[in-house]
Amino acid sequence: MSAYSERSRQELLTEQETIRREFEDLKSRGLSLNMARGKPGKAQLDLVSDIFNVFQKAEDFVSDGIDCRNYGELSGLPAAKRLFADILGCRPEQVFVGGNASLQLMYDTIAKAYTHGLLHSPRPWCKEETIKWLCPAPGYDRHFKVTETFGCELITIPMTDEGPDMDAVEKAIADPAVKGMWNVPKYSNPDGVIYSEETVRRLASMKPAAPDFVLMWDNAYCIHEFEGDFVEFPDILSECAKYGNADMPYEFASTSKITLPGAGVGCMATSEANLDYLSKLIGVQIISYDKVNQQRHVLYLHNKADTLALMRRHAAVLGPKFRAVTDALDREIAPLGIAQWRHPKGGYFVSLNAMPGTAKRTLELCREAGVTMTGAGATFPYGKDPQDSNIRIAPSLPPVEELEQAIAVLCTCLKLSALEKLLA
Ligand SMILES: Cc1ncc(COP(=O)(O)O)c(C=O)c1O
Repeated sequence: MSAYSERSRQELLTEQETIRREFEDLKSRGLSLNMARGKPGKAQLDLVSDIFNVFQKAEDFVSDGIDCRNYGELSGLPAAKRLFADILGCRPEQVFVGGNASLQLMYDTIAKAYTHGLLHSPRPWCKEETIKWLCPAPGYDRHFKVTETFGCELITIPMTDEGPDMDAVEKAIADPAVKGMWNVPKYSNPDGVIYSEETVRRLASMKPAAPDFVLMWDNAYCIHEFEGDFVEFPDILSECAKYGNADMPYEFASTSKITLPGAGVGCMATSEANLDYLSKLIGVQIISYDKVNQQRHVLYLHNKADTLALMRRHAAVLGPKFRAVTDALDREIAPLGIAQWRHPKGGYFVSLNAMPGTAKRTLELCREAGVTMTGAGATFPYGKDPQDSNIRIAPSLPPVEELEQAIAVLCTCLKLSALEKLLA
């Protein structure tokens, strides 16, 4: 198999005929497969469903003398704070344990910045002429949507193998209208990149012009290795404090992909000063979050070591799925030279860069053949990929046999759209 770029027009036309027949054959199978969202598969949900058996007796509802069935403890059960602090490597006093989703806490932080301002805001953000926001891309579509709905001007920061392009970040933060930045520092969505030590140091030591600049640190995949050993990662709160930026980072995490998405526990970790300030505002909107669920998780997960043991059981399910995807791409696509991808060791995605100008067409062909993928462009601010190249593959939901079919369809569609482009 030679690269398409080395083939003559006649050879490409012959190849197109072959691939077109392959595509028609796949289409005729009436497939209905989904690689669109990073949802755990049924085997993973079954793996953790004994979480519903942890309450055996009345005392199980009592934690550090607190009856978790009642109102109170706005910032979460102390035991739940200890659990997340253990996992994130920060102090329990820095943790706010919320409801069933970390995205809600992220949204709420930005909403409060708009309506009331944050600890160091000269005024609420709604009173500012313009708010700009840094978006490392490819990135998480829901992050971008949050800041877009508040009317922020989204600035794309290119992602590298080390994390966001720090030269671009350092230049951008000289503008006082730039109020914050999204980050998924470990196994980034979708690239699966782990920020390097140097990137973390440069972020933690930034001196943004905005006094209330927010470093949104979404550590959604902090313990989510599906291959190899757990990778240690610096605690962003102490890193920032080292450089006099204690109030700059807001870290988020959840058990959505440890226990149950939508029925897990989300948390925020930030300086105690930030927590004091935000808790007063949050206390107006809610009396307390679901502490029964927090306690369920404390009784089920215990601590970081036991949680890591559970993550190895998830890895046993997820690893083969990711390998099915990257093996197929390595085998079918690599020799043709029409796309590049990374081989992540954790997280929930494989990020693929197709030949520029072919991502939309590839996904349209996938849809025709019954395979749903994340929409083209979704990984960029405003849903627009300037290169029309990035495709996010989410292998976690389908069982391996279905996944193998879905990835075969994707490979065929990648070839077909590349051939169309080359022959146009
Ligand atoms: C980077 C990232 N953050 C947050 C979430 C959602 O987390 P939660 O369920 O805690 O809201 C996801 C889900 O895919 C994600 O990829």
